[in-house]
Amino acid sequence: MPHGFVSLKTDSQEINRMNICKTISEFRQYRHSAAGKVIFVPTMGALHEGHGSLVRMARRLAGPDGIVAASIFVNPTQFGPHEDFHKYPRPFEQDLANLTAWGADVVFSPSPEEMYGPGNAISIDPGELGTVLDGAIRPGHFRGVCTVVAKLLGIVEPAAMILGQKDFQQQLILKHMVRDLNIPVEIITAPTLREPDGLAMSSRNRYLSPDQRSRAASIYQALSWATDQYKSGMRDAAALVAGMSEHLRQAGLEVQYALPCHAETLEVYPKAVGAPCVFLIAAKLGTTRLIDNVVNS
Ligand code: PAJ
Repeated sequence: MPHGFVSLKTDSQEINRMNICKTISEFRQYRHSAAGKVIFVPTMGALHEGHGSLVRMARRLAGPDGIVAASIFVNPTQFGPHEDFHKYPRPFEQDLANLTAWGADVVFSPSPEEMYGPGNAISIDPGELGTVLDGAIRPGHFRGVCTVVAKLLGIVEPAAMILGQKDFQQQLILKHMVRDLNIPVEIITAPTLREPDGLAMSSRNRYLSPDQRSRAASIYQALSWATDQYKSGMRDAAALVAGMSEHLRQAGLEVQYALPCHAETLEVYPKAVGAPCVFLIAAKLGTTRLIDNVVNS
């Protein structure tokens, strides 16, 4: 078998082959020898069915002749000094098996040194949108996200990139980044995949104890309650904030924010909630921080 390919066997039958590129030059070589448009799904690994839905969507969009490229890179520059960079799960072999099963053709999985070589000094300012919500709670986070995604786009050169709505602020900022920097890529936002009790799938869910895991369902319950209220005509921002926060607190979660925001500007609706509206929640269970949202247009 050629170096750089993974072969998965079931009952001694080879089901697929996927190219694994660990360096930028390996990826560029693959990219320029392959014909067809590239659809790209960036990830930090620890893959779950939420990532799977993005890769499957990429497969459908690429068609049989296009290329589905994924990246696995736990990007150090988007983690704060006291965040979970070192303990972030890295089940690489399992991730490769999943990507193969979901239909990816190639994975780019560089080391931090490969991505941030000596003298690497330029980063991307995420602008105003990067200063609110998670940008306020996690200073530097969106600068790290913008910088790594701009670098990945420069390496992968995709026609389209698929992002999850789960990270609502991230996909909005990245749409602004490619628009403002004239990066020729289409960004597609894919719906959030949820567990049966509504909890949004997340690599960080595996940090939760069984008790915390059952209480985490209150995040989606709070979002669903607010959505029902909104749909039945309730527009009182303070009442919606209080109601969502109460759902979370009753389940023992520490609320960081539970807000109705303008879905394009992220401005918090101060009094009367208008349209388009996104309900955004960030809450902690012990040391685990979870985010989720529901959009009402
Ligand atoms: P990561 O958290 O691994 O997520 C990779 C992509 O999967 C993101 O676009 C995210 O929104 C999407 N995703 C996560 N959970 C999902 C779910 N339950 N349903 C649908 N999509 C889901 O987000 C990042 O990595 C990084 O910030 C990255 C963009 C790769 C830059 O480092």
